[in-house]
Order: sequence, then C-alpha cells, then structure tokens
Amino acid sequence: MSNTMAQPTLDEVQALEAQHVLQTYKRAPVVFVRGEGTRLFDSSGRSYLDFVSGIGVAVLGHGHHGLAAAITDQARTLIQTSNLYFHPLQGQLAQRLSALSGLERAFFCNSGAEAIEACLKFARRYWYSAGHPSRTDFVALEHGFSGRTMGALSVTGNAQYRDPFGPLVPGVTFVAPDDGDALAHAVTERTAAILVEPIQGEGGVRPLSGAFADAIEAACARTGALLIADEVQCGLGRTGEPFYFPLLGLTPDLVSVGKALGSGVPIGACLVAEHVAARVAPGDHGSTYGGNLLSTRAALYVLEQLTGSTAAVPYPAPGSAIGGLIAHVRDVADTFDQALTLLKTRHGVVASVRGAGVMRGLELTVDASPVVDNARAAGLLVNRTAERVVRMLPPLTVTTAEIAEAMDVLGEVLATVPAETTK
Ligand SMILES: Cc1ncc(COP(=O)(O)O)c(C=O)c1O
Repeated sequence: MSNTMAQPTLDEVQALEAQHVLQTYKRAPVVFVRGEGTRLFDSSGRSYLDFVSGIGVAVLGHGHHGLAAAITDQARTLIQTSNLYFHPLQGQLAQRLSALSGLERAFFCNSGAEAIEACLKFARRYWYSAGHPSRTDFVALEHGFSGRTMGALSVTGNAQYRDPFGPLVPGVTFVAPDDGDALAHAVTERTAAILVEPIQGEGGVRPLSGAFADAIEAACARTGALLIADEVQCGLGRTGEPFYFPLLGLTPDLVSVGKALGSGVPIGACLVAEHVAARVAPGDHGSTYGGNLLSTRAALYVLEQLTGSTAAVPYPAPGSAIGGLIAHVRDVADTFDQALTLLKTRHGVVASVRGAGVMRGLELTVDASPVVDNARAAGLLVNRTAERVVRMLPPLTVTTAEIAEAMDVLGEVLATVPAETTK
C-alpha cells in the first residue's frame, strides 16, 4: 500500500530539487515511492528488483511490517529524551551488540561516519589517558572509505574526496591493502590506531587477505597500536556472519557499525573493548539523538531478525550455528556465488567476482556506468563503485529466485557491452 500523499512526477521532482537542494549528488533519473521486500516501485508504478537496498541499509527488505509495527509502537510511546536521562532500550541494545561482537561496550550515534568519528576519538583518548598525548597518528588503507565528515574523511583513501577540504586530521598514513611491508613500516610508536574495513565496500568490494590481516595483527602486537575495524558496510549479517573481522583472525579494539543496524532508521554505534572503555570518561563524547528510543527500538528488532532470537546471542565462532537472517544469507550465498561465477565464465567483460555472502562485486574490464544504467532500464538496481565494479548489496531477505532473476537481467546487460571496449 502506498501512503496517501499525492505523488509528483519525475520532472516535477527534478525541477524542485534543481532549484532548492544543494547539488552534492548525481542522482539516477527515477523517483521511488514505495517498496515491498526486494522490490521498489517508481512514481509511474514500475517495479524494480533492488540489489542496492539503500546502499546496504534495508537489510529486512522494504515495507517490512514487523519493523513498521515496532517503530510505530515506539513513536506512539516515546521517541527522544536525550542522553541526559536513562531509558530502557539503550542498555539492551548495547548488551546484544556486545554479546554478538565480543567487544564489551557501545557508544550510539546516528550514522556510519559518526561511528568512525567516535572510534577515532576514543583511540586518541585511550593514549591521552595512558599518558601518551602525542600518540595521535592513524594508519588507514588506500581504497578505504569511512565517510564524509572531517575525521572520517581524513582516514578515507580517495584523495579526490579529501583534497578540496584540507587541512584534515593530521598524521594519517595510507598503505596499499595488500602491502604488509608498507604497513609494518607505517605503524610506529606514534600510531594511535590502524583503521581497516575487513571488506572494502566503496573501494570495490575487496576483502582483505589473510596474509595482510596477519600483518595488521603483527603491527599492533609490535607497537601496541589499537585496531579499528570499520564494519559499517560488511558487518551485521551481510557476509553470513555477524561480523567479518573474526574470519580474518583480527582482534579489533574498536568496531564501527551503521547501515544495517536500523534497516533504514538512522543509527550507528562504536563498539569498544573494555581496556579502551576504561580510559574514556563522562563528557568525552556525545550526541543529542544518539541511541534514542526510536532508533534503538528499531535496532533491537533488526538484531532479533538477524539472529532469530529475542535474547542476546553470544559471539559465535566463524561458521558456527546461528539462526535468523544471518543463516538465510548463508543459505543463499552459494547460489549467488555460482551465478556470478557463471556470468564471469560467459562474459569476457567480467574480470573477477568479489566479496562474500550478499556483499558482492563484479569487477569489469570497463567502466561499470553503462551496465548499471542499462540494468536499471531493465528493472534491476545495482550500483557502480571504484569505477569498474558493479556492486550488489540486496536486502538480507533476498531469495534464490530473486538472485536468479537479477542474474538473468545482468547477463543480458553484460552481453550488450561492446566487444571493442573490453580488454
Ligand atoms: C565502510 C563504511 N564506513 C563508513 C561509512 C559512512 O557511513 P554513513 O554514510 O552512514 O555516514 C560507509 C558508507 O558507505 C561505509 O561503507
């Protein structure tokens, strides 16, 4: 069911935005007005299979009645009181995230970038409290993306995003995500923390290698540098695991989450190990909305759906049994993988298949823009990242039939990529 507001046309929406919305986005020419599971509907009533899900956000699918009921009930009861007072839900959500991640505490905010800001601040606070106030540097990865606020931008690898906004946070060194020697050289006794995405999302859906993960652990052990795992995109079930860092053998001191946590209701969190939390004091950080009743209620519902349990689910060893949507992702992941591998076999324009679970990328030998545009014209939403990568982040509820349908469309589109533009 659509809501009762009159739906303006694409032309009307574009004209109004062109006049009044700050032009920081280059949007595709489509207006979505309604969603149902993995489907979105535009203002003319046309249906699209959504393998973007709000950039990895709408993990429960669109128009989810259970989530809608939870947030409606909460909105009728109480939405926001601020962090000046207690409310019943923040502790419960922190308890569940702590159980699932193995990191003891949570700080709540409203987005992924804010979660990164919190991680960076708590890493510096850790060293400041320890009597090493000059230990302020960060090591981050080329192709990494952690958001657009000043701190998050400072540890984001793409210089085009950073350069117009300097000077940024000083003391950040970038190393290639497969260069263990460069990492060993860059991490020193002045490094507050190393920040990595266990699977680089915007950078082209690139999982870190086991060898590089070992180099990270070694650098942390040698210097005492903290490790921040940015799980904003790859965390909370997308790979068929609650988090991806354990699969790499990483032991982060801080973990950022966002996107999936509210399945569309804005919420982020910085998860903090007890030894770091012990060096953080009241007043060090805060947020007016962070962890409010509406967003925590949504996140509690999402975690219940992800794990299939209303109780806190303890940190599972990678691959060990878990219920809910995380188990569902494991069930559909093989089908997805096989279908993508088949596309690579059939289409010379596909250079590689990347990612895990339902966080997937097809690296092309050419710019991915025409493939993304043609897929949308054919009723499938995917997105382009790192220029040549077609990224797929469907809702975690995606079915094998929907995966097959999407792969059929993608196959047809890839078949039209002109041979002369391939390598
Ligand atoms: C890995 C990662 N970290 C941080 C962010 C920033 O999150 P947000 O856009 O919610 O601020 C993103 C967004 O794409 C991301 O992919």
